[in-house]
Amino acid sequence: EPPASFAARLLRWQRQHGRHGLPWQGTRDPYRVWLSEIMLQQTQVATVQGYFARFIQRFPDVAALAAASSDEVMALWSGLGYYSRARNLHQCARQVMERFGGQFPRSAALLQTLPGIGPSTAAAIAAFCFGERAAILDGNVKRVLTRHLGDASDLAVAANAHALHARALALLPADSADMPAYTQGLMDLGATVCTPRQPQCGRCPVAADCTARQQGRPESYPVKTRK
Ligand code: ADE
Repeated sequence: EPPASFAARLLRWQRQHGRHGLPWQGTRDPYRVWLSEIMLQQTQVATVQGYFARFIQRFPDVAALAAASSDEVMALWSGLGYYSRARNLHQCARQVMERFGGQFPRSAALLQTLPGIGPSTAAAIAAFCFGERAAILDGNVKRVLTRHLGDASDLAVAANAHALHARALALLPADSADMPAYTQGLMDLGATVCTPRQPQCGRCPVAADCTARQQGRPESYPVKTRK
């Protein structure tokens, strides 16, 4: 039997050991997924849960958020920090109404044209909601992939970042139906096993062919450069 693919091993791990049952999981509603991804960018899951619940209660859909005053949005965001996220959130809701008739666009390419949605968040929303074979590359995922692939290049150099993105695309599951669980699995592996310090390689489903582990120093990735 050939060894299971990277994606197959990650999917299997995600079903058994990934995070499940969070309020923004088990939905394909792009409004909820978008709101959670913005909140989770710089804030821990435990903190986000209460804020997410209050936002959904007060603004159940993108139309309600777009119609709110800036003051009310900022008041509900208060305590989460990084307040440009809240301003972009409100602007994004208004653009979804005005440019897209109240429906989030269904591709990562179009999602990226909205305020506060960068390439990785766009890929996450497209993968979770629409099964697009788009590759997320947030901080956690960059760490997992640079370790696995032994990529010691300077990712601040655009050509190197593009090369890693191409390799991330090549690892995606072939079946788009697997994209939500795969994407969540990569995030969860980075958050719970392939951590910045003292990664728990003994619990990693893709340790067998991890370059950084074979080299004996997984925590040396991603390689930090000047600047
Ligand atoms: N951080 C960013 N997106 C996340 C998600 N979907 N689940 C857990 N942590 C995250």
